[in-house]
Amino acid sequence: MPDKARKILVTSALPYVNGPPHMGHMVEYIQTDIWVRFQKLRGHSCIYVCASDVHGTPIMLKARELGVTPEELTTTNSEEFIKVFEAFGVDFDNYHTTHSPENEALTVEMFEALRAIGDIYTKTIEQAYDEKEGMFLPDRFVRGTCPRCKSEDQDGDACEVCGATYTPEDLIEPVSVISGTTPVKRESEHYFFKLSEYEQRLREWMQDATLDKNVISKLEEWFEAGLKDWDISRDAPYFGFRIPGTEDKYFYVWLDAPVGYPASFKHLCERRPDLDFDEYWRPGHDTEVFHFIGKDIMYFHTLFWPAVLQGAGFRTPTSVYAHGFLTVNGQKMSKRRGTFIMARTYLDNLNPSYLRYYYAAKLGPTIEDIDLNLEDFIARVNSDLVGKFVNIASRCAGFIGKRFDGKLTDALPEPELFAEFANASETIAGHFTNREYSKAMRIIMSLADAANRYIDAKKPWVMIKDEARLDEVQAVCTQGLNMFRSLAIYLAPVIPVVADGAQAFLGEESWNWESASSPLLGATINKFTPLLTRVEQQQVDNMVDQSKETTGEPQTVIDDNTISIDDFMKVDLRIARIDEANSVEGADKLLALTLDLGDSTRKVFAGIKSAYDVESLIGRQVIVVANLAPRKMRFGVSEGMVLAAGPGGEDIFLLSPDDGAEPGMRVK
Ligand code: MSP
Ligand code: ZN
Repeated sequence: MPDKARKILVTSALPYVNGPPHMGHMVEYIQTDIWVRFQKLRGHSCIYVCASDVHGTPIMLKARELGVTPEELTTTNSEEFIKVFEAFGVDFDNYHTTHSPENEALTVEMFEALRAIGDIYTKTIEQAYDEKEGMFLPDRFVRGTCPRCKSEDQDGDACEVCGATYTPEDLIEPVSVISGTTPVKRESEHYFFKLSEYEQRLREWMQDATLDKNVISKLEEWFEAGLKDWDISRDAPYFGFRIPGTEDKYFYVWLDAPVGYPASFKHLCERRPDLDFDEYWRPGHDTEVFHFIGKDIMYFHTLFWPAVLQGAGFRTPTSVYAHGFLTVNGQKMSKRRGTFIMARTYLDNLNPSYLRYYYAAKLGPTIEDIDLNLEDFIARVNSDLVGKFVNIASRCAGFIGKRFDGKLTDALPEPELFAEFANASETIAGHFTNREYSKAMRIIMSLADAANRYIDAKKPWVMIKDEARLDEVQAVCTQGLNMFRSLAIYLAPVIPVVADGAQAFLGEESWNWESASSPLLGATINKFTPLLTRVEQQQVDNMVDQSKETTGEPQTVIDDNTISIDDFMKVDLRIARIDEANSVEGADKLLALTLDLGDSTRKVFAGIKSAYDVESLIGRQVIVVANLAPRKMRFGVSEGMVLAAGPGGEDIFLLSPDDGAEPGMRVK
């Protein structure tokens, strides 16, 4: 029996709507939606709210670049998110925006409450300022030379080459990404939240919140490093909420973003008089609040957010459920490989139920990354959903429909076999509750195997030829359809559209979780139409092709074939210094490099223009294949090859020696 009815509020992270949704986003919304549908099926009250996260510098700049207002940009993108959510069956009770009056009121309320207890203070800080644009620059908008390894064109907060972390002020020759000018340092007063005072309370919350052990160990790490106060303000121009009592200071987007959760709920309360805001958001009620998020935003949800709520007199989350990141075919999603797939491109080619099932089959409760392997996707969906699950119904429905006027028998021929299906109910429910979806799917599919084995053994298609055994056929098919029915109910949170089709076919009004444990007998069912068709390789290929962004010729191509050590020794790799770098007229990807090899100079053409500025290359040391036969190209002769890694476009990385290497040294 399910536990007594619970009152649950569930959220997914509020998508940042500076672009359209992709397959990575869908991991989270599908994971959450399955959990919510499961709770509802169990008879609990479960409200699911979300919103678009619309504030902050990236959206402001993107809008400016497109010549629209931030409101226009985020409304357009939100509409796409909403359509995609609908198509994937992600069924919010409310979807709002963080640029709403509810959100502003709540954000200000929390801020004032924190200020009243002395947990907000102001401090003057120095920050990079773009004089041309008239704005302060977030770390990500300043680039320059790494202070440690001297690699050029690095982010304002960390070096991709040597891994050093620093602040934009430490960069050598910093430039503003927005205007290309050199930023100056300027002082400004910022508001800070005293996170440092919340360690004890956060530790207590962490104990109560039954977090995944990965999340706990992250928290322990952060406690160990010491909690720092949090800078919660930004200077104008900024797209966000102005801080009361100031002219030109705004709340940092990450302060008001999570407030979007209660704000969206508040917005819902207006049309749902049965819901009481305080019952869910003030302490002391027996409601539950769960946040589903990705592992990249744990700091915000397990430190800042519970601390802000606690300090401001709101309730803290019951728990925070973090998931891992999506990889496609075992690698980071890549535009070049066609694996950076937009949700829309998926929908143009494939049935959303496939993806919901596939993600469920892969998802567990940890922050481990999950892989969408496209071969496996086709195989798994075809074998499990079509070959095992739907097949049970296809094999039985025709006989009942055509030979028995759609009538099921009044009793099951094998009640013990059905009992196996009913008895799995609580185990499967436990797995759903614990976000062990992959375990739930495994049990469901092994039951589907058992159902198919039963039908294989009985062979209704043979019996049907024998008039004397017609009753038996009807009974066997009734048994088969009931096993199918229980599985359809267990799968309903995962593939609701397919389950709805099954329910309509079986002529039933409604299902709850308990329905799976008692068979449908004596009923008249409807005509069977195929609930799901197989995935075709071509559909997946088309989706990948449509996701490909051609980024020009491949760079240094490395062959798959093995070579002997002798072959390798033939390659003369040398350290070289770039003395000159010039664009090549008529070749938009090439740079002509003049290389100093110690004892000689070479002219080499390299397809690195999309990733490097000419200036940034001068004086830099690289590795060159020195004994490559000279190649005549359209623009001249290339006398060697410079080694680089990466897929192309902006993502080309020249290989460089550590300090101390000299032009001409042999690479071994
Ligand atoms: N706007 C913030 C969340 C604010 S919540 C108060 C944000 N937005 S996001 O659009 O970048 O991401 C939304 C959710 O999708 C996050 O939980 C994020 O972890 C998740 N994912 C985004 N890309 C993902 C993958 N590639 N894989 C799995 N989940 C991913 O963060
Ligand atoms: Zn560096």
